[in-house]
Amino acid sequence: MKLMIINGPNLNLLGKREPEVYGNTTFEDYFGKLKQKFPKVELEYYQSNIEGELIQKIQEVGFDYDGIILNAAAYTHTSVGIGDAIKAVTTPVVEVHISNTHQREEYRHVSYISPVAKGVILGFGLQSYDLAIQSFLA
Ligand code: DQA
Repeated sequence: MKLMIINGPNLNLLGKREPEVYGNTTFEDYFGKLKQKFPKVELEYYQSNIEGELIQKIQEVGFDYDGIILNAAAYTHTSVGIGDAIKAVTTPVVEVHISNTHQREEYRHVSYISPVAKGVILGFGLQSYDLAIQSFLA
């Protein structure tokens, strides 16, 4: 089982960024824990602040990985291009968010990812990623 976690803009600042919303853990630390918890899963991680790079990565892995776990962050609410990339590839994509976006500003209630995702997991903090991995193992 080969899974790619893709994180979008500002998620490189996890641990420092609005800790009251996103917590105190860096993604690198959490990713280490995920790898320990799921030793049989080939887990990779990619982060970019650039929309086109996220699209590029989806295209790159989207025909031979078993799954993509995508937190497109702010691009979730704006990016027709990322939505189209997900539609173009064959690998299923699970959309994740750390926060419950539906409890937040109205502009975060819209997702260009959800209509083309296999499923959506949000609001469980970093555990959302763990649950997304489990969804591929079920
Ligand atoms: C986020 C929610 C988005 O609205 C926000 O722009 C983010 C992070 C989340 O994981 O909760 O950067 O995707």
